[in-house]
Amino acid sequence: MAKEIIQVKNLKVHYPIRSGFWNRVTDYVRAVDDVSITINEGETYGLIGESGSGKSTTGKAIVGVEPITSGQIIYQGVNITTAKNRRKLNYNKDVQMIFQDSMSSLNPRKRIEDIIAEPIRNFENLTTDQERERVQELLDIVGMPSDSLYKYPHEFSGGQRQRIGVARAVATNPRLIVADEPTSALDLSVQAQVLNFMKHIQQQYDIAYLFISHDLGVVKHMSENLAIMHRGRLVEIGSRDDIYNHPMHIYTKRLLSAIPLVDVEHREENKKHRQEVEQEFQNDQSKWYDDKGRVYPLQQVSGKHWVALPKDELKQEEIKEKGRD
Ligand SMILES: Nc1ncnc2c1ncn2[C@@H]1O[C@H](COP(=O)(O)OP(=O)(O)OP(=O)(O)O)[C@@H](O)[C@H]1O
Ligand SMILES: [Mg+2]
Repeated sequence: MAKEIIQVKNLKVHYPIRSGFWNRVTDYVRAVDDVSITINEGETYGLIGESGSGKSTTGKAIVGVEPITSGQIIYQGVNITTAKNRRKLNYNKDVQMIFQDSMSSLNPRKRIEDIIAEPIRNFENLTTDQERERVQELLDIVGMPSDSLYKYPHEFSGGQRQRIGVARAVATNPRLIVADEPTSALDLSVQAQVLNFMKHIQQQYDIAYLFISHDLGVVKHMSENLAIMHRGRLVEIGSRDDIYNHPMHIYTKRLLSAIPLVDVEHREENKKHRQEVEQEFQNDQSKWYDDKGRVYPLQQVSGKHWVALPKDELKQEEIKEKGRD
């Protein structure tokens, strides 16, 4: 039985919207609105959704750089949503983040040596020589030449900067890394390289990933379990088999149909399928979303498979699924 490393329970992050002469709070952006997920030790958990669905906010709330509105994040049996508990459990060392935008997340005025050494300095007492040796090792792990030490972020390509981001994230020997679209800004070939060495590092050091992406294709071969996010909420969660072979929510189906295909032979067929799914998504809004356009609460379909549907719809969908078997 897989052991869990982290449990996110009913996480909400709401941002106030102010307007009018008095600049009063008139409403909230519900960036994350009741999200619960459990990640096991050493696994890759995919968090997928289109732009603005709340993925980065979820990731930042988990690592503790974004204040939460309500909910719990349980690590080693303790709720770490307070800074005091995070310190007590060494949480800031054990849980790291690779940020979405490598250009703005690496300080342009610092040399690579200092960028990678920063988390080490926060948590360990190494001599200058020991520290340099450690940074060299880390550069080696991510396949960067050793003279990178003395350079600045702008002297590297996007792919190289992502590798530097990975080196910094693994510097403290973490248990969990939140990887926010680590490859989406990269060319396909470089994307594959970065994914491969992330996988390699994961196996070598037994790290769990919360892998954030807008593309279900990217994480297909990496993720054991996935959560699909839309409008701040989860529309579907399940194992890789549940999500890729038995998707139920129209939004999941839509993301699946959007995966770019290399296969030329079926291009026409796929285009037609994509248009059908898009039609269904447009026409059946009232079935999949409530009258305010909000995603319904998740309901269990089987073992790990949960989908957001009103109660009576679930029965209908189950009947359809059975008919198909
Ligand atoms: N500091 C903030 N103040 C107000 N609204 C915010 C803030 N940060 C994010 N939001 C809003 O919260 C929602 C979710 O943003 P988030 O960055 O989490 O989305 P995302 O899924 O990571 O999107 P992308 O794929 O574009 O990175 C968006 O509507 C965004 O505008
Ligand atoms: Mg984001």
